[in-house]
Amino acid sequence: MRICASFRKTMASSFAVCRLHMRGRASLAKCLQKTDAFLHRSIGTDVVIARAEATRSDESDEKNGRKSLHTLHMERREQAERSVLISCQSSTNEKKFLKYLSKHGEINKYFFYESYGVYAVVEFANQESVTSLLEGVAIPGGSHESAVPFKSRLLSLRNLGSVDSSNQVSGRQCQPQTTIPINELIKRLSREESIDKQISSLTEAYQLTEENSRLRFLVCSLLKDIATAYFPECTIKPFGSSVNGFGKLGCDLDMLLDLDSISGRNVKLPKSGLSLEYQMKRANSERAVTQSILSVIGECVDQFGPGCVGVQKILNARCPLVRFAHQPSGFQCDLTANNRVAMKSTELLYLYGELDPRVRSLVFTVRCWARAHGVTSSIPGAWITNFSLTVMVLFFLQRRSPPIIPTLDHLRDLAGPADKSVIEGNDCTFVSDFNKIQLQSNTETLEQLLGEFFEFYATFPFSRMSINIRKGKEQNKPEVAPLHIQNPFETSLNVSKNVNASQLDRFVALCQESAWLLQQSETSTPRGGGAGGEGAPTPWGLATLLLPSQVAGIKSRKKRRREPASERIKGLLESLKNKNQLKKS
Ligand code: CTP
Ligand code: MG
Repeated sequence: MRICASFRKTMASSFAVCRLHMRGRASLAKCLQKTDAFLHRSIGTDVVIARAEATRSDESDEKNGRKSLHTLHMERREQAERSVLISCQSSTNEKKFLKYLSKHGEINKYFFYESYGVYAVVEFANQESVTSLLEGVAIPGGSHESAVPFKSRLLSLRNLGSVDSSNQVSGRQCQPQTTIPINELIKRLSREESIDKQISSLTEAYQLTEENSRLRFLVCSLLKDIATAYFPECTIKPFGSSVNGFGKLGCDLDMLLDLDSISGRNVKLPKSGLSLEYQMKRANSERAVTQSILSVIGECVDQFGPGCVGVQKILNARCPLVRFAHQPSGFQCDLTANNRVAMKSTELLYLYGELDPRVRSLVFTVRCWARAHGVTSSIPGAWITNFSLTVMVLFFLQRRSPPIIPTLDHLRDLAGPADKSVIEGNDCTFVSDFNKIQLQSNTETLEQLLGEFFEFYATFPFSRMSINIRKGKEQNKPEVAPLHIQNPFETSLNVSKNVNASQLDRFVALCQESAWLLQQSETSTPRGGGAGGEGAPTPWGLATLLLPSQVAGIKSRKKRRREPASERIKGLLESLKNKNQLKKS
């Protein structure tokens, strides 16, 4: 986001800046359009570079029908800047609502959703429409409480005067922003004809929708409006599962406050002659700078951010962050700064997910399976995180014969000069052009891969070996942690350092149990019943794997080896047999 020079001077007070910012946004678009030359001269050339990069990748997208994460980010960010979020009344009439808003300009897209009330996301075709709309928005009054005068694009729709009868008929359809409950999912999967179809159905039910994705970028954009009070050129970018292609509806929103364009990294000083530099306050370390920035922005979010509640500053974590809930969207948000390696790993995961559709499907399935059995949790603890599970799936896919996805070292070898990236001494280089990546021909089905995944980790030598997607081969463990997964870019770090021995044991035991279940004809073939819509269908295949397990009670791996089929599985099989016999009789 580029802001014109006159705007940059306005750093006096946050309120003054906030007010200016709202007006500045209108001139921003004009400012951008006026002259490209201005952009080339201005301190941060990243927008220009980004555009060039986006154009380059757009060209390759056309060839292969895939979008680079960069292009996706640019598109979504632009959409978000032209969007507003409006809290509506449950009786809001869609037609009237649209007619009212259309007075400010053409609407590109809109949708409604429910989260502590009904909300609408409205994307205008032009930025000017947002400015025009905001000019006519009133400051709330009539309450015994005083309002903090921070104006944002989060608005409330009021219907003053008499309510006419047509207002009671909403005609709206709300877009779901959360996943279906697990029991629903089990029923849905049980109706499918094959395990491959079950996996596709699960992926479809869980992955982020177009609307949810838009909402995520809009929340980033709303937060950016707060952060620009101090750092007019900053952007707030989503990373992690919100954008890496492995996000499930309801996942948290990881955000990065990106100040790179302000840091002056891109400015080349002349070899001789006069030049100017900013006077800036200094701190002991980059970490201290990050902490102080997040502390201030966290305070602003807490004090002024409409809809932001439960703000916690977790500044002493390895990666300092501000955590809060954004009530209007229902997102649990983590705001970080100076976390460029995480952005790189997001790009890498996105790239792997785009290479072969089996990657995403398998990751979704394994994540859902792990969640159903409490192997992962949204609460921090000794469990395996979704990120670790994703890396485990990627590693498994690299170990297939022939491999389904290439190693990170191979992706680095394919990189061109523009892909070169070293962050804090870590080599984060890998190819971004999909066309340079040649995949080997592996025709395994999702059903085969799921079974093999469980087999693979049921027998993996965790006590000696480390999982390493850079090499695509297990390596000797450099430390004693029960589970060692090398961080792809910060290679001295273990992604799963938090996992304790009993959690790993549970994971292994569940892998054994699931691999075994998939081999049994009783559970691996459709059971019939309820397919025509009557009654609940009998769980089979993937649905069986999502049913509660009693593996938690198993204390040691040795014991599991001697007794591969737990009593529960036997019981389950018995009950399946009985049910089928009852149906036949
Ligand atoms: N990350 C990392 N190293 C870690 C943990 C996280 O590089 N040890 C990066 C990854 O890019 C990850 C992102 O930070 O995707 C966000 O972390 P997290 O929220 O824990 O994982 P998600 O992938 O977003 O998964 P979830 O849906 O559980 O939030
Ligand atoms: Mg996340």
